[in-house]
Amino acid sequence: MTALADSSQPPPLFTAFSIRKVTFRNRIVVTPMCQYVADDGHVQLWHCAHHSRFALSGIGGAIVEATGVTRDGRITLGCLGIYLDEHVGGLKRIVDIYHSQGIPVGIQLSHAGRKASAAVPLKGAAPLADADPDRAWTAMAPSAVALTDRWPIPREMTEHDIETIIEAFGIAAERACRAGFDFLEIHGAHGYLVNSYFSPIANRRSDSWGGAPLENRMRFPLGVAAEIRRRIPAEMPVFYRASVVDGLEGGVTIEDTAALARELKACGVDLIDCSSGGITGPSGRAFERPAPGYLVPYAREVRERAGVPTMAVGLIVEAGQANAIVANGDADLVAMGRQLLAEPSFPYHAAQALGHPKPESVLPESYAFFLERRNFG
Ligand SMILES: Cc1cc2nc3c(=O)[nH]c(=O)nc-3n(C[C@H](O)[C@H](O)[C@H](O)COP(=O)(O)O)c2cc1C
Repeated sequence: MTALADSSQPPPLFTAFSIRKVTFRNRIVVTPMCQYVADDGHVQLWHCAHHSRFALSGIGGAIVEATGVTRDGRITLGCLGIYLDEHVGGLKRIVDIYHSQGIPVGIQLSHAGRKASAAVPLKGAAPLADADPDRAWTAMAPSAVALTDRWPIPREMTEHDIETIIEAFGIAAERACRAGFDFLEIHGAHGYLVNSYFSPIANRRSDSWGGAPLENRMRFPLGVAAEIRRRIPAEMPVFYRASVVDGLEGGVTIEDTAALARELKACGVDLIDCSSGGITGPSGRAFERPAPGYLVPYAREVRERAGVPTMAVGLIVEAGQANAIVANGDADLVAMGRQLLAEPSFPYHAAQALGHPKPESVLPESYAFFLERRNFG
């Protein structure tokens, strides 16, 4: 698996990748990871410390966690928000951290839909209506269908709600531009609002925004993508995180997602970030027992079928594995989460393991200079 073919060249994982005007200096991207410590959506010092760890680690790019485009669109009370102009300053601090190291950074724009109003994971992730009823709110969704029998029934969105939320995504995108983000990601996965419009399991509407026809279920995701594209500079890339399959009988299939990806591409979406699951249960889990690289085949299939760049994610934990994803053309970018939490130095260690001609060069100069001269004797 380990590519040592030409030791004068960086391995595929450490080659640059460009979309529109943004260049990732290597293929390792920090996947969005909620920290659940925001206060009314505002960035805290923790977020800055968390992102600084990655900014100094040699990654190629990063995506800030799911960030609510409306206050009620947050998953929990600890989620970041971009529903106030006052959020821009805090988000800019995160952007500045990455930009100080020349690293492009995106933000995941999100509406939680029927999964909104949950307790934070550390407090059980149960419906807030059970855990803290005074602070709970009523979630909205394409249909008045609860996530599971343990969850409250959401309010079915009116045509006016649909227009308002699509516009909120657009306004959020403009705020993200003001904060200095280099690219955006639409959260279209894990059973949250955009995903729930696309999935026949959550979307039972009988109007033009839902029901059996794929065309109807695509309307909301495409509306969000078009609204965002209309409001941002042409040089700014837009990613879309999809749950490629629901993993449930009667749910979204790979064919559905490939069709959506083609339409998203026509709306100006540049890359599909290929996750899975979450339409009725925990995010990202369409499989009983995820194994390393379990979602990579989806990234490859979407890439081939829709002719669109993809990002692979899901238990990518080892240098050879990450490198092979790029070398084999499975995906263009490799998103990593928990392995980077455990080992922020993964890019440097991977560069060493893969025979990069100058592994230290992936790190900031102030570190690289001394590491190059380190002698173990
Ligand atoms: C702490 C934590 C928070 C997460 N928050 C988000 C999020 O904000 N948006 C999202 O799309 N996925 C989120 N995820 C899922 C990750 O982006 C990723 O898809 C998943 O962890 C699988 O990648 P990994 O095996 O490299 O961790 C989160 C995962 C973790 C562990």
